[in-house]
Amino acid sequence: MTTKNISTSWTEYASIEELSSNDRELVIAARKAALNAYAPYSKFRVGAAVRLESGIIVQGANIENAAFPSGICAERSALAGSASNRPDDKPVAIAVAAYTEDGLTKDPVPPCGNCRQVLAEEEFRNKKSIRVILSGEAKIQVIEKGADLLPLQFNRNNLNINPH
Ligand code: THU
Repeated sequence: MTTKNISTSWTEYASIEELSSNDRELVIAARKAALNAYAPYSKFRVGAAVRLESGIIVQGANIENAAFPSGICAERSALAGSASNRPDDKPVAIAVAAYTEDGLTKDPVPPCGNCRQVLAEEEFRNKKSIRVILSGEAKIQVIEKGADLLPLQFNRNNLNINPH
């Protein structure tokens, strides 16, 4: 019998002023994207901004639905937007920000399980890590790759098919 262990490390910053100008720009884009959220049910507005290899930023917001499961998170909106519009331009980073009715959340909002799975797929198909920048008012967490947020991930290898 062997017990194995996976650990995750990340870097924390106290404000966006401590980030590189590129990352700060991405966080500001995520905050702006939250303005386009459609969240009449949860009143929790989330924005995401994906930085592509070319430097281009693609934004996304959560878009809810009266049929609750039909809604989509900001992260998946942004990743679907970049993959559909710029399929050959690989994502290198994603920033996320969220607002309650009281304003920007104090703590960073972590991506849900579905979004982690989608992040992992993007990394897998592009063979490129995506830095994840989770931003709150009082704390910013930077995780070097999406895969770190999904240990023992299910991916194409598990389907036993040939990658194209
Ligand atoms: N949501 C996101 O868009 N991203 C997250 O990281 C967490 C949750 C959305 C889904 C739903 O519209 C609302 O926030 C409340 O869960």
